[in-house]
Amino acid sequence: MKILEVKDVVKIFKTKGGDVRALNGVSLDINEGKTVGVVGESGSGKTTLGRLIVGLIDPNKGSISFEQRSIGSKVNIRHPDIRGKIQLVFQEPSESLDPRIKVGDSICEPLKGLGVEKSSWNSKLKNVSEKVSLEEEQLSMYPSQLSAGQQQRAGIARALITDPKLIVLDEPTSALDPTARAEILSMLQDVQKDFGVSYIYISHDLSTVRYLTDETAVMYLGEIVEFGETSKIFTRPSHPYSTGLLSSILLPDPDIVMDESLELSGEIPSPINLPKGCFLESRCPLSTKECQDNHPDLIPSDDRLVRCFEVEKMKDIVQPSSKFEDFDKSFDDFMTKRSSSSGQLGN
Ligand SMILES: Nc1ncnc2c1ncn2[C@@H]1O[C@H](COP(=O)(O)OP(=O)(O)O)[C@@H](O)[C@H]1O
Ligand SMILES: [Mg+2]
Repeated sequence: MKILEVKDVVKIFKTKGGDVRALNGVSLDINEGKTVGVVGESGSGKTTLGRLIVGLIDPNKGSISFEQRSIGSKVNIRHPDIRGKIQLVFQEPSESLDPRIKVGDSICEPLKGLGVEKSSWNSKLKNVSEKVSLEEEQLSMYPSQLSAGQQQRAGIARALITDPKLIVLDEPTSALDPTARAEILSMLQDVQKDFGVSYIYISHDLSTVRYLTDETAVMYLGEIVEFGETSKIFTRPSHPYSTGLLSSILLPDPDIVMDESLELSGEIPSPINLPKGCFLESRCPLSTKECQDNHPDLIPSDDRLVRCFEVEKMKDIVQPSSKFEDFDKSFDDFMTKRSSSSGQLGN
């Protein structure tokens, strides 16, 4: 069942240099209990999308609805049925934990805003800290006394305590070392199993997106350029930008290069001065006159949505890559080993 619907959302930031078009008509559905990954280079609009969904900022155009009800504007004036149901976990745990407040109190803070009876806070705190494997004594410490991984677990507990249906995770593991990262990812999977919560997982770490998500949205300059089942996109990307991302250094295994003729070149255009044609045109090896003159729509193509005039040509060029399957397998093995050998979450 669909719980969140983002429709044709446009977000423009006014700056001294001009209007920054951070999102240029983004539509996205999230289903109950599922995880959608959002990937793309820095500046593609991922964080802006996440902030709009949790109501930290308002769109200029378009609508966002949660369980068929418009989320309205900012979070503090939301309908009571929606408040607390959509939560955000930041990249830096320090953004959700006040250094002067004990960890347990920080975790409980969202309950205050929702007017939840204080007598129930302790049992809720106990419940969520168990879920994220924080010890009772850690709850009476200050954030600086915890490791980065523990701090991020507290950030996740703080999001969980309002019993949300959707959590936006904005690069939640990028500040962590590989072990802490693997632990958090398997914990997020367990939490999803227990609570049935949906995730929007924003990351430029494609290997973790491949691991955690059901569907993937590839973003470029404020637009979704490809959307579909994660396994299909990673095995055989259909948009030249997705292909470029997947074959880039972002993946840890340098053997994974698809086809040199598909490498992207040149600079990203400014979001203040976007081209009238395809936004990728100046960087794309397949570019034609049509791509210069017209802006492609995101349209169905076989098993996914793709925003590219040359999608048929792409299908001929990009062959399914078994290298990704090998890569998936080694990553799965790593995660399994991590979560079984660590037992007690240490870091
Ligand atoms: N508050 C803001 N004021 C002006 N420009 C912004 C603001 N927030 C984001 N932007 C711009 O919007 C674009 C998208 O940014 P962001 O959503 O942070 O991308 P990502 O998370 O994918 O790196 C970028 O060009 C960024 O500089
Ligand atoms: Mg960001």
